[in-house]
Amino acid sequence: MDVILTIGSELSANSQGVQVAGQARSRIKGHCNPKANWVRKFHYAEKAWQCKEHGIGRIRGNERIWFQMVAGTTQTINESKQMIMKAMRIHQYGGPEVLAQVEMQRPAPGVNEVLIKVHAASVNPFDWKARAGYVKEFFPLTFPATLGSDVSGTVEEVGPGVARFKRGDEVYASLGLEGGGYAEYAVAKEAIVAEKPGTLDHVQAAAVPTGGITAWQALFEVAQLRAGQKVLIHAAAGGVGNFAVQFAKAKGAYVIGTASSRNQAFLVELGVDKAVDYQKTRFEDVVHEADVVLDTIGGDTQERSFKALKKGGILVSIVQPPSQELATKYGVRALFYGGHPSSSNLAEIAKLIDAGKVKTVVETVLPLEEAPRAHELSQSGHVRGKIVLKVA
Ligand SMILES: NC(=O)c1ccc[n+]([C@@H]2O[C@H](COP(=O)([O-])OP(=O)(O)OC[C@H]3O[C@@H](n4cnc5c(N)ncnc54)[C@H](OP(=O)(O)O)[C@@H]3O)[C@@H](O)[C@H]2O)c1
Repeated sequence: MDVILTIGSELSANSQGVQVAGQARSRIKGHCNPKANWVRKFHYAEKAWQCKEHGIGRIRGNERIWFQMVAGTTQTINESKQMIMKAMRIHQYGGPEVLAQVEMQRPAPGVNEVLIKVHAASVNPFDWKARAGYVKEFFPLTFPATLGSDVSGTVEEVGPGVARFKRGDEVYASLGLEGGGYAEYAVAKEAIVAEKPGTLDHVQAAAVPTGGITAWQALFEVAQLRAGQKVLIHAAAGGVGNFAVQFAKAKGAYVIGTASSRNQAFLVELGVDKAVDYQKTRFEDVVHEADVVLDTIGGDTQERSFKALKKGGILVSIVQPPSQELATKYGVRALFYGGHPSSSNLAEIAKLIDAGKVKTVVETVLPLEEAPRAHELSQSGHVRGKIVLKVA
């Protein structure tokens, strides 16, 4: 007897049997179509659970196999139920309403992986772009999909080879584009996990990873921003921008940030040397000779940003590849940058936070099941800091 559910399959059990959504392959005689993609009930799975001889077990095979009923294991039905978790998942591209709460099998950590009990997960614009299918050309989702890159929580279990963490450690991580954060448990490679800043609770810590890492890498690893340089940061009140402002200030740069009228005082609180209200002023009329522009908006904002740079300066866009013709015309470098998860960046950021040099900004906290509302808010494009989903 042998049933294999592919990674991400959802599973819930009741007295009627086991409900499975996702892709599965089965070798139980005549029960289902191998490699079929379906949502259906498996009554025989209940039988398997009751079967002393075969029992039910969980093994890790390669990346695509994480749940398997095998002969000779001893797990009981009660133990199996404890392995069920809640998650907000999507089964198709669409509006915020496609985010649905499901019960599914808890993932298990593999080699060099940790299982994180998620206390809080934050929302990034990438989440709703992926949900809506806007980025499917370069990042197609495999359904059902669990979105959410940013988590803060405690280590529940460690896989073979994990040396830096043990059960109970408080950690935070950017899981990257693969996501998995809108759930009670998430698996992460040890290499991308860092100790949570001790001065933050989980809700505040979940606001950090993607925004903080992206700002850090764009400013310091790509633009090589140095003390005394002038940097223009667009959307300075947003999830990436608010960290970029604070990191650049901590580095000793002269910082100019753009935001709407509502956020002018907020930018000053964050520490900008100059706040530009994009609703009243064309930033290129008042910002000149910048060494670095961090473009978080694209389009017309990106094009006009060339005028704010000094010769030899650099424009780093995290939203769209900039025009190389304009770069040549203005004598600057211009490039698109996509951030990547990094535990060492998170460790550096945690030091700044714990030293009181960087604060986190959480505008809205919602329970996990209100992820659709969180997406609506994020899609408005005017979140200050982050929206965080409280999970535990
Ligand atoms: N490439 C990467 O690795 C990477 C990583 C992270 C994010 N991103 C992308 O970068 C972009 C920014 O991300 P985020 O998390 O910072 O987004 P966000 O938090 O949703 O940004 C919201 C902020 O944008 C500001 N804003 C809106 N229109 C503006 C304008 N015309 N000028 C200046 N500010 C404006 C808003 O301020 P007001 O309310 O004052 O207008 C608001 O505070 C997103 O498109 C995201 O997908 C890319």
